[in-house]
Amino acid sequence: MGMSNQNDHSTALIRLLVMALVLTGVAVLCGGVVVDAVMHPARYAAVEKAGMAEEPVAAAAPVELIENGIDLASGFIAEGEYQLVKTTCTGCHSGKLVLQNRADREGWLAMIRWMQQTQNLWDLGADEDKILDYLATYYPPEDVGRRANLAIEEGGWYWIGE
Ligand code: HEC
Repeated sequence: MGMSNQNDHSTALIRLLVMALVLTGVAVLCGGVVVDAVMHPARYAAVEKAGMAEEPVAAAAPVELIENGIDLASGFIAEGEYQLVKTTCTGCHSGKLVLQNRADREGWLAMIRWMQQTQNLWDLGADEDKILDYLATYYPPEDVGRRANLAIEEGGWYWIGE
């Protein structure tokens, strides 16, 4: 009887210790997340963004914000392979420089070749076809592209970067 009593006490003590250990673990984990969130807010930006869906778009918009079908960061029409074009074509200059031009496929290819020969643009490999498809589709020569043009003006891409 005395023996089993002592066992009960030890079991209770062990349970307490285990619980304290678990609680400490949880506390450390939560503290770690908070510290991480303070030091690296970008990691938690997606969570924030989801919560602010109804808020007006700020000038320093996160990269993937789209308004009226226009990717705000680059000014590109947010369809097709625009993300690939954005990544490839806005590293050296703004998207505006790209959008100041209209051309058919050959015209866009000529601009790419010109940049490769004179501006250190790298070999685009398999991406070249996709990029040309996008540019020739959404930014064709002026007369053909009137509708795309109007859409851009309505989208108001020109105020980006104010
Ligand atoms: C390695 C850097 C670099 C990359 C990447 C780059 N460009 Fe350029 N691009 C330039 C430079 C430099 C100029 C000249 C800028 C100037 O004249 O102010 C230029 C100019 C241009 C022009 C203006 C040409 C003209 O005569 O008006 C267009 C259009 C253009 N780039 C499109 C693109 C597209 C499309 C891509 C993606 C395939 C791209 N660029 C990627 C460096 C680059």
